[in-house]
Amino acid sequence: MDKLLISGGVPLDGEVRISGAKNAALPVVIASLLTDQALVVHNIPHLQDITTALELLGHLGVRVQVDDRFAIEVNAAQLTSRRAPYELVRTMRASILVLGPLLARFGEAEVSLPGGCAIGSRPVDLHIKGFEMMGAEVSVEEGYIKAKVNGRRLSGTKIVFDTVTVTGTENLMMAATLARGTTILENAAREPEVVDLARCLIKMGARIHGAGTGLIEIEGVDRLTGAEHRVIPDRIEAGTYLAAAAATGGRIRLCGIDARLLEAVLGKLTEMGAGVSIEEDAVQLHVKEGRLQATDLRTQPFPGFPSDMQAQFILLNAIASGAATVTETVFENRFMHVQELQRMGADIELRGHTALVRGVETLSGAQVMATDLRASACLVLAGLVAEGQTVVDRIYHIDRGYDCIEEKLAQCGARIRRVSRGQYPHAASVS
Ligand code: EPZ
Repeated sequence: MDKLLISGGVPLDGEVRISGAKNAALPVVIASLLTDQALVVHNIPHLQDITTALELLGHLGVRVQVDDRFAIEVNAAQLTSRRAPYELVRTMRASILVLGPLLARFGEAEVSLPGGCAIGSRPVDLHIKGFEMMGAEVSVEEGYIKAKVNGRRLSGTKIVFDTVTVTGTENLMMAATLARGTTILENAAREPEVVDLARCLIKMGARIHGAGTGLIEIEGVDRLTGAEHRVIPDRIEAGTYLAAAAATGGRIRLCGIDARLLEAVLGKLTEMGAGVSIEEDAVQLHVKEGRLQATDLRTQPFPGFPSDMQAQFILLNAIASGAATVTETVFENRFMHVQELQRMGADIELRGHTALVRGVETLSGAQVMATDLRASACLVLAGLVAEGQTVVDRIYHIDRGYDCIEEKLAQCGARIRRVSRGQYPHAASVS
């Protein structure tokens, strides 16, 4: 298992190009199942989760081609299977997104239950309830969701989500594009990635109104066509690099990012005392003199402060001046990074869904272990700040969601290196 070796104490100073959004690219490539024509997708990030999604599509019989500009062409003209197997689904929960398109186009699908993960049980009951309301018969047998539609075609209906669910909204929006009649999704997720998927579906001939609001209306059509789409930049990758520059007291310029995707994060960074400037297609951050100011926050569905940035801001508060509370309202167990930060000297007390963080002057490097994608990013940032060397283990979590993280940080001056298990601990330090 690879590890990242980090020597802290260097203020970042450089420029990073932001990659395409993982959580937009995943539903967009899966939307190819809705048509028998080719879908060409640009700005796909080079991430393990994308590889897994393309492997799953290949398993179903989708033809996947990568052109010389790394655009990906996916074509579901000749599907050979409608079953998403456990060995693929368990490595990536977003695989559940194949359920809606397969049901809508073929009237049947079998998808392994994704199972829980480090940040919580992560049920898919709202997905299943929505499909049943659209006329599917759904059963769960031997760990698989088995769904079929008598008469082969789903029926439009009104669905009110008990909880805002991003992939639940995406799954049912995709299914509704080919349903008979109109579907209304109420209390729908408003994330930019949902909007990006809707834009792609509309290019394919879908009739969708209201994406980006809490009420989405989808008028079913008989078939969808191929299209060409460029996914939006990754707002969480961007927020993570801004937090890295803020944590190290440095400066950074992010290219290829629309600041409107980051308003809640930019607001909190400004509240903490960082200087932020916005350009057409870029964002710059620098830290004025002195330490950041501790700032309270609560995670919320978009446009609120994103749960995927909570771990990074726990770290910022851990080294800020003063004390703050960080409350996680989206997932029930998303503080796995706290115990690792405490081992580095952070002063954090957990009280249910709230962390009380008291800023300390310095953190000390240590051997730490990543548990989930964003927690591992937080530990990398902690290593950039801590005195001495930090070794982050199990960084396959990072590779799921960050494209070339050590290269991007190193080009901003960070002392960071990836070593494979065999090299460590011989590779004693990072020059
Ligand atoms: C998406 O996960 C993202 N993943 C997550 O990003 C992100 O953290 C999350 O949305 C919240 O923004 C992708 O888009 C691939 P949810 P998703 O359904 O859709 C509960 C990352 O780091 N719920 O919006 O799985 C659920 O338990 C990942 O890139 C139900 O109870 O999250 C949670 O408490 C991590 N029943 C809340 O809703 C359901 O049927 C929000 O979950 C569905 C969800």
